[in-house]
Amino acid sequence: DGEVYKYYADGEWRASASGKTVAIVNPTTRQTQYRVQACTQEEVNKVMDAAKVAQKSWARTPLWKRAELLHKAAAILKEHKTPIAECLVKEIAKPAKDAVSEVVRSGDLVSYTAEEGVRILGEGKLLVSDSFPGNERNKYCLSSKVPLGVVLAIPPFNYPVNLAVSKIGPALIAGNSLVLKPPTQGAVAALHMVHCFHLAGFPKGLISCVTGKGSEIGDFLTMHPGVNCISFTGGDTGIAISKKAGMVPLQMELGGKDACIVLEDADLDLVAANIVKGGFSYSGQRCTAVKVVLIMEAVADSVVEKVNAKLAKLKVGPPEDDCDITPVVTESSANFIEGLVMDAKEKGATFCQEYRREGNLIWPLLLDHVRPDMRIAWEEPFGPVLPVIRINSVEEGIHHCNASNFGLQGCVFTRDINKAIMISDAMESGTVQINSAPARGPDHFPFQGLKDSGIGSQGITNSINMMTKVKSTVINLP
Ligand code: G3P
Repeated sequence: DGEVYKYYADGEWRASASGKTVAIVNPTTRQTQYRVQACTQEEVNKVMDAAKVAQKSWARTPLWKRAELLHKAAAILKEHKTPIAECLVKEIAKPAKDAVSEVVRSGDLVSYTAEEGVRILGEGKLLVSDSFPGNERNKYCLSSKVPLGVVLAIPPFNYPVNLAVSKIGPALIAGNSLVLKPPTQGAVAALHMVHCFHLAGFPKGLISCVTGKGSEIGDFLTMHPGVNCISFTGGDTGIAISKKAGMVPLQMELGGKDACIVLEDADLDLVAANIVKGGFSYSGQRCTAVKVVLIMEAVADSVVEKVNAKLAKLKVGPPEDDCDITPVVTESSANFIEGLVMDAKEKGATFCQEYRREGNLIWPLLLDHVRPDMRIAWEEPFGPVLPVIRINSVEEGIHHCNASNFGLQGCVFTRDINKAIMISDAMESGTVQINSAPARGPDHFPFQGLKDSGIGSQGITNSINMMTKVKSTVINLP
């Protein structure tokens, strides 16, 4: 039951000495689809040792050669888009077309990272001393960016390939080695992606991929003394990691409750289209999904009607058929979503559709007249369920948005650009989109969460910079 996959260490595929595997359950069939190795702490130690050794010579490998290998990996990744996408369909129930786009986007991301790295890492700085009071012009400071060492990358289930390469690419171009711990759902797609890097011919030990139970190797990895940087995307676990991690740079993206503020003068068809795309694509399982609609009462009925008409047209079913709404990733996730829906029901929310669930498959649901005492007004369902809160002033919308403990992205719909910019300034979110749903991409844009949504900024350029440190040499003239 379930094809068994090996983990990747020191340039080869290995079975764990534990003799144990972890099951990956297909969200659609709810049967075991694959199995991955349950790596031991001893195996993690070996991977860390190899990563440390490999990094030393990688850091001395010319930047253009590092870029060349990344371009090669990007091309191989794109060639392998079909089998990798198949894994995404089976492991995380991503609609077939979106699964292919994830892989292609990942190849593009790796190529762009190689190009960007060559440019920004090829530049250093020269400072002279006499601009600071009391100094003569007798000191020259040369500074450049050098790698951190071993980067630990932990991507989430919703983009096991793309959010892995968004960490791997910057780490490698900057001269670091990389240890990947993929999510259990999505681990096989991630292993296949790592295989593409293997085929590109990266040195042994530079990249490794360990799989297994969080309870066995999770803390062990994040607290490992051999780790010099952690890049994590996921949920609350990130808060725990940041408390336990050593004194190493952290890059964290931990979810959001992205608000969509709609003013009376907005293009209501555009609003409805973006609410459906933003709130329901990949069944709402995106950190950047629209997770609460804050809409001016005067236009609320009209937008709700338009959204409902679009929701009725969404195809609900298996990812293989390229349905819009597919089963959510696990049964516990479906149960959690259901809990939020039932709480809203008890407290009197208006159900625009009948609540329907079969296994992990939840039909799209818009909840109107949601009030702040309902859990769904604040919590992140990570499912195809979207609350609408009617507001009577823009200030009310901004207040709700800022009262959240999250601050990833948000969006505002209005034809008045001045108002839009003032609202954007007032919203405590890492990014505010004007007249479009929140989204991370294009992948070279800065991407950051405030408050519980994260630490640091991502996006290709920021990630490369974050995975380096500044090193200076000062020439002292007599
Ligand atoms: O959920 C992770 C987050 O990075 C979303 O990315 O491309 O769907 O906006 P995207």
